[in-house]
Amino acid sequence: MSDGGRPLCVLPLPRAEAAATRFAERLGAPLCALESRRFADGETYLRVLGDVAGCDVAVVAEMRDPDAQLPGLLLLPDALRDLGAVSVGLIAPYLPYMRQDARFRPGEAVTARSFARLISSAYQWLVTVDPHLHRIASLDEVYALRSVVVQSAPAIAAWLRAHVERPLVVGPDAESAQWASHVARLAGAPHIVLRKTRRGDTEVEIDAPGSTSQHRGCTPVLVDDIISTGSTLAEAVRLLTGRGFARPFCVGVHAVLVGDAEARLQTAGVRRIVTCDTLTHPSNEIALADRVVEAVTLARAADRA
Ligand code: R5P
Repeated sequence: MSDGGRPLCVLPLPRAEAAATRFAERLGAPLCALESRRFADGETYLRVLGDVAGCDVAVVAEMRDPDAQLPGLLLLPDALRDLGAVSVGLIAPYLPYMRQDARFRPGEAVTARSFARLISSAYQWLVTVDPHLHRIASLDEVYALRSVVVQSAPAIAAWLRAHVERPLVVGPDAESAQWASHVARLAGAPHIVLRKTRRGDTEVEIDAPGSTSQHRGCTPVLVDDIISTGSTLAEAVRLLTGRGFARPFCVGVHAVLVGDAEARLQTAGVRRIVTCDTLTHPSNEIALADRVVEAVTLARAADRA
């Protein structure tokens, strides 16, 4: 699709080919291909297969295992401009490096801010879905580019209304309260928020600050933004079933699901894992591609204004 006369082309980083195809189809834009490999010494080789001269380019990144993607993510925009691209934007439905958003111990790198500076110097606009905003209130605080954020809550609420009778939306920790309360409001369901203490990457403790007995008979639906090791949701599942609730659904926006995360959740007694399609995974049941494409149109228009 051209925008004000300038054609758009969509270019996936490795692993983002399926997502890029979905977006290109909806945008009516051609899909370019990227040849990417490692030289013998480990450096990254990139070759754009297609003519991007005079085009706006939307790079699509699927950022599970983000460090493997960093060289391509950061080197490609400069190569595209060198090949004649007029502007380069980034569609990263899952935006990594948002959780280290403060210096918790002396000397720690606040990588959320550093990553934002790197991306902002390479791209002109960014479209993402529900970034992990906690101590950083908005992307504009750290990203110096045009960003458009897609909210998953309307689609999650629609899924909930279609699939769960008498849902109780449960946020597993304070950070999830923003998503849980939004989904609950849109679905017309009650919600509660649990309390998490993190002891390590896979060691978390979850408790419930108040009584939950008034919600007996409801089906718990845990809602969180990121399911990474699955530890947070597994502990929340245990707490809820320990209090006599039915086995909970676990709904995550971003199916990072590293290592044995799914097994951890199954062992804890999850009823079903359901995720949005921001990271490709068999649990993707909630499609956000149309919303992402609308956001791309907004981001390009804002960039050109
Ligand atoms: C952090 O607060 C996030 O919202 C998630 O709760 C967290 O990333 C989940 O991580 P894990 O699945 O490893 O417990």
